[in-house]
Amino acid sequence: MKTKSKKIVIGNMKMHGSLDFNESYFKSLKQKLSLFNELSITLCVPYPYLFQAQKILMGSNIHWGCQNVAKELEGPFTGEVSASMIKDFQCELVIVGHSERNTAYCESDENIAEKFNMIKKNNMTPLLCVGENLIEREAGIMEKVVSEQIKTILDLYGQDIFKGSIIAYEPIWAIGSDSAASPEQIEKMCEFIKQLIYSNVTDNDDVNIVYGGSVNAKNAVQLCEINGVDGILMGRASLDVNEFYEICNSIHKI
Ligand code: PGA
Repeated sequence: MKTKSKKIVIGNMKMHGSLDFNESYFKSLKQKLSLFNELSITLCVPYPYLFQAQKILMGSNIHWGCQNVAKELEGPFTGEVSASMIKDFQCELVIVGHSERNTAYCESDENIAEKFNMIKKNNMTPLLCVGENLIEREAGIMEKVVSEQIKTILDLYGQDIFKGSIIAYEPIWAIGSDSAASPEQIEKMCEFIKQLIYSNVTDNDDVNIVYGGSVNAKNAVQLCEINGVDGILMGRASLDVNEFYEICNSIHKI
């Protein structure tokens, strides 16, 4: 869904939206973002609105995705939604391991790894969120934390599983806050992640790393210009059509 030269822009609606809101939101995004073919744009919507996203965004330059998926394909798992179900709505990307889910629903690294594998097996793009909390950053163990999150997947499935996937470095302390991580912190972590995955492979073009956590129209360019950053993942900013547009407009020429 993306060529290496395209910057990645992913919006995460989280648990926001309604049929009414989405009707004008999806249509406005479709119209306003149609200029930005140099970007790879995806909007991750709540499950009930996949059908609506598909109906409205079909044929546009905006892809749609989900925010979670079950690790099983089908069976007696009340309340779960499988990869094949979201695939029915031409969902292309799935967020996995978002810290808001890990905290609230105690997702283990093993669970996340199994979901990652399920997304790949169903030919969708996993967007794996990794990142440390404030205590871990202050203790200086952020690389250890991120390494454990990624290593569980590497150990279970090998490095090839990362081909074509996206990793979002989202320091938990920067999500929903007032300020993003600093360019130095982000560059260092992106470098660390790439080395971790491709320690034995020289061509590391197959994995993309995006930054997430308080991305907005003011800092998007600076964030996208950081070495090793292939794009951005945004929460709040994606719900405002004008801000979404400003962000795409400011980075589409990088
Ligand atoms: P935020 O959320 O942009 O509102 O900080 C980012 C995220 O949780 O993905």
